[in-house]
Amino acid sequence: MKRILTGLKPSGELTLGSLIGGISGSVKYQEMYESYIFVPDMHAITVDQDSKLLKERIRKNVALYIACGLDPKKNVIYIQSENLYHANLSWILECNTYMGEASRMTQYKDKSRHKENVSVGLFTYPILMAADILLYDADLVPTGIDQKQHVELARNLAARFNNKYGDTFKLPEPLIPDVGAKIKDLQDPTKKMSKSSDNYKGTILLLDDEATIRKKIMSAVTDNEGKIYFDEVNKPGISNLLTIYSSLKNISISETENYFKDYNYGNLKREVADLVVNKLSKIQEKYNELINSNEIDDILDKGRIITNEIAKKKYDEVLNKVGLGR
Ligand code: TRP
Repeated sequence: MKRILTGLKPSGELTLGSLIGGISGSVKYQEMYESYIFVPDMHAITVDQDSKLLKERIRKNVALYIACGLDPKKNVIYIQSENLYHANLSWILECNTYMGEASRMTQYKDKSRHKENVSVGLFTYPILMAADILLYDADLVPTGIDQKQHVELARNLAARFNNKYGDTFKLPEPLIPDVGAKIKDLQDPTKKMSKSSDNYKGTILLLDDEATIRKKIMSAVTDNEGKIYFDEVNKPGISNLLTIYSSLKNISISETENYFKDYNYGNLKREVADLVVNKLSKIQEKYNELINSNEIDDILDKGRIITNEIAKKKYDEVLNKVGLGR
């Protein structure tokens, strides 16, 4: 069976966009692949974090993954910083990465532009990401399109290492979900709904209460045409609402368009809000059962033990091949 591996950085709260664009995909993949899901907490500190909030969010995210349908029996669930091999392998890979190729990472260029005091970690983080992936011989890495270049870097580094030291790493492939799955900001539907947005009016958090969800959806930006159909260029707001509905209902965009064709915008929003409230209240119920339970710790302990074993084997092989240690 192919092995799939992914992680969601705990640098902000999980959103409806993370559910539809990320976690739901993993819920499907768990039926098809051997699945590894982790919290890349060491990636979060490439930018400034409040330490107390970060720690809380790591646990919250794990509870939310499970509440959203990731089955701990079908996934190995773990926290990156509980496995020291990630950072160790990253160092060895860094020594086999060229400044030129690291400098070409467009996400780094975007994130560092016009900023003072950019950390070295933000620059090298794609290499840590490569270590995250290569330690486990992952075949497939589901991510957003913004991470595709990083998975390609991991692939290049794996190939280079294999060439120099003999076959060691599997070459991973990115798995990018279909276009329909990208949820936009409700206030600016040309931008992605972001977990680190400072404008929470356009972002639905998975833990928002019912009144907040309704308010955010009812005030979503639309257009003046008054007709409901999918057109991302001219009607990004309406198209976004249709995408949310079709993804949560698991029906196609054209079925969704057809269903809403005689609605006005107010009624469309009301029905999208009903659906989102219904979905998220079920997730929140499960989350509330989990968050203070020992179950989370048991799952994470198990994940730590399994992944440390796998990673140690790979890392020892790398050490030997590179000539480190005794
Ligand atoms: N860089 C990813 C993001 O920002 C998170 C991540 C870190 C990741 N390591 C990974 C994703 C390994 C997939 C595989 O979203």
